[in-house]
Amino acid sequence: SKFLCSAAALSVMPVLAQAACDGGERVIKFSHVTAVAGHPKGEMVAALAERFDEQFDGTMCMEVFANSTLFSDDKVLEALMLGDVQLAAPDVGKFDAYTQKLQVFNLPFLFDSTEAVQAFTETEQGEEILMSMEGSGIIGLGWIFNGMRQFSANRPLVEPRDAAGLKFRATTSEVTEAMIAALDATPQALAFAEVYGALQTGVVDGQENTWSNIYTGKFYEVQDGVTETNHQFLTYLIVTSPEFLDSLGDDHEAFTTLVDEVSAEYNARANAANEAARQAIIDNGGTVRELTDEQRAAWVEVMKPVWKRFEADIGTEVIEVASGGAD
Ligand code: LMR
Repeated sequence: SKFLCSAAALSVMPVLAQAACDGGERVIKFSHVTAVAGHPKGEMVAALAERFDEQFDGTMCMEVFANSTLFSDDKVLEALMLGDVQLAAPDVGKFDAYTQKLQVFNLPFLFDSTEAVQAFTETEQGEEILMSMEGSGIIGLGWIFNGMRQFSANRPLVEPRDAAGLKFRATTSEVTEAMIAALDATPQALAFAEVYGALQTGVVDGQENTWSNIYTGKFYEVQDGVTETNHQFLTYLIVTSPEFLDSLGDDHEAFTTLVDEVSAEYNARANAANEAARQAIIDNGGTVRELTDEQRAAWVEVMKPVWKRFEADIGTEVIEVASGGAD
C-alpha cells in the first residue's frame, strides 16, 4: 500500500546515512565539497571520522558528507552557525563574508609550497587567524593543505594573454576574482559542485584548481589542457562552532588533539597526493603544459600586482610574515 511504501522509504534513509553510528551515539556531522579517494581533504576527513569513532565509541560518532552532498561551501558556514553541521573545512577563499584575514593565503605567488604555508600557520600572525571569526560564531581548529592551483581552459594557455577574453570559474574569493580580472579575463563565481558541468557546457571557458581537484573532479576531460602556473596554494581551514566545542565538555581537548594529529599526518602526504593526481591526468590522456621560467615570470608579472589592493585589509605585517619576512 501507499502507506507501507512510504514508511519503508523513511526507515531506510536514516540507516543509509548513519551507517557508522550506533544507536544512542551523538552524531557529529562533517560537511565538505570534494572527493574522498586520492584527495588530501577527502582522505584526511575520512581518517578523522574513523579515529573519532574509535576514540569516542559508545558516546559519539562522526558522519562525513563529501562531494557537496549536504551543503556547498557557500551554505556550510551558515549551517555551522545554525548547528546543522558541527564541522567543515572550506577553502580559505570562502570566508570573505566573515574575515579579510584569510585572504593572505590566496595572494597569487605568495606561498609556493606546503612548507611555506606550514611555517606561516605556526607564526603568531597565522595562529591569530584561527580565532579571527569567533565573533561570528566560527572557530578555526587547524589547517588542511592541498597544493598549488593551476589554470586550465578550453584552449592552450601559455602566455597570460592567452587567457584574455575568456571566462573562468572563480571561488567567491575577492582575491581570486581580482587575479582573473588582471588577466583581462572574466571571473564567474560558481560553487565547486558546478564546475564540471559549467566547463562541459561552455558556461565558462576555464577554471583554476589543484591537481587533486582537477583530477578527481575530471575537469581535465573537458578542457584543452592544464598549465602548470602554480599560482596559489590551496589551504583549508577546519572550522567548528563555539557551541559544539563547549558541548564536548571533558572531551574538548581530546577532540582538538585528534584533529591536530590527523591533519599533521595527512598534510605531510598532500604533496604526494597532488603529484599522483598530476601523473594520473597525463596517464588518462589529459594535457599538462609546463612553463619555462620566462613564461611563468610573465604570469607573475600580470597577477602579483593584485596584492596591493588587499594590503590594507590583510595587513602589511601579516603579508610580510607570510612572505617569509620578519616574525
Ligand atoms: C574550490 O571551490 O575550487 C575548492 O575550494 C574546492 C575544495 O574544497 O577543494
